[in-house]
Amino acid sequence: MAASAYKHYDEIAEHYEEDYLSDPYWRLYHDITWLNIKKHLPKDKKSIIADIGGGTGFWSRKLAKLGYNVVCIDISENMLNVGRKKARKEGLQKKILFAYGDVKDLKDQKANSFGFVLCEGDPVSYCGNEGRAVSELARIAEPGAKVIVSVDNFYSVIRAALNVKMLGILPNIIKTHRSNLYGKMPQYNFTVEELKGLFKKNKLDVISIIGKPVFAHKHLFRDCPEYATDKKLYNQLLDLEMKFNSEPSLVSAGGHLEVVAKKL
Ligand SMILES: C[S@@+](CC[C@H](N)C(=O)[O-])C[C@H]1O[C@@H](n2cnc3c(N)ncnc32)[C@H](O)[C@@H]1O
Repeated sequence: MAASAYKHYDEIAEHYEEDYLSDPYWRLYHDITWLNIKKHLPKDKKSIIADIGGGTGFWSRKLAKLGYNVVCIDISENMLNVGRKKARKEGLQKKILFAYGDVKDLKDQKANSFGFVLCEGDPVSYCGNEGRAVSELARIAEPGAKVIVSVDNFYSVIRAALNVKMLGILPNIIKTHRSNLYGKMPQYNFTVEELKGLFKKNKLDVISIIGKPVFAHKHLFRDCPEYATDKKLYNQLLDLEMKFNSEPSLVSAGGHLEVVAKKL
């Protein structure tokens, strides 16, 4: 399963960040993510951060700019190469080590060695063995370190299938939680309860789960482009997302789910 994920990201590596950030929906998603990450960063800037499935190092560079040293690990060599170039351009090459690795088998990383573990943009959903992936993320974290993981949401993929009138694939998605909606790579779609169970099993104490985003859907920016162009409106939307995105009754409405946990 991981094979098609790395192929897809190898193909889009050169324009991956630019494509995402030119779309207002994904800009909002990234702003929510960054605000959530910043709440949980270690106070000690000497802590080493693992950015697993870190791709082109979008988050690694932000973390390096705050003073942390980061190890950015990904299964796509092209994503890593673009990441190396971007880090060099920003003078961050000494702060970020880019290395090949698979989230479900981080054999080159020692147990209990990172003060913060990040896994953004669904590598756990793409890797084909989500149980192994979460146990690896838990293994490399120091006791007491925070682990933040973003994954695909079961209810959101049902909504996506309805939007493109692919009702025929719904029974299989509902049965297996696995989908391959756009034919690019298979993904595992989680419910909040499944995530909580998997984290607990790996001795990761769940602190919060948020939906990203819970109110804004892609059509909001199509129907009301002012949300993207008017800074005041955009900030009001972002504030609302941050105020309610961990409400238990709203989390499952999120486009994606993000767990924050602490290694016991
Ligand atoms: C949506 S991108 C997210 C990249 C980065 N974390 C970010 O948020 O900008 C998903 C990344 O997961 C990586 N990936 C997919 N399967 C993986 C695996 N089994 N192990 C490590 N990385 C994987 C892809 O190569 C890609 O770089």
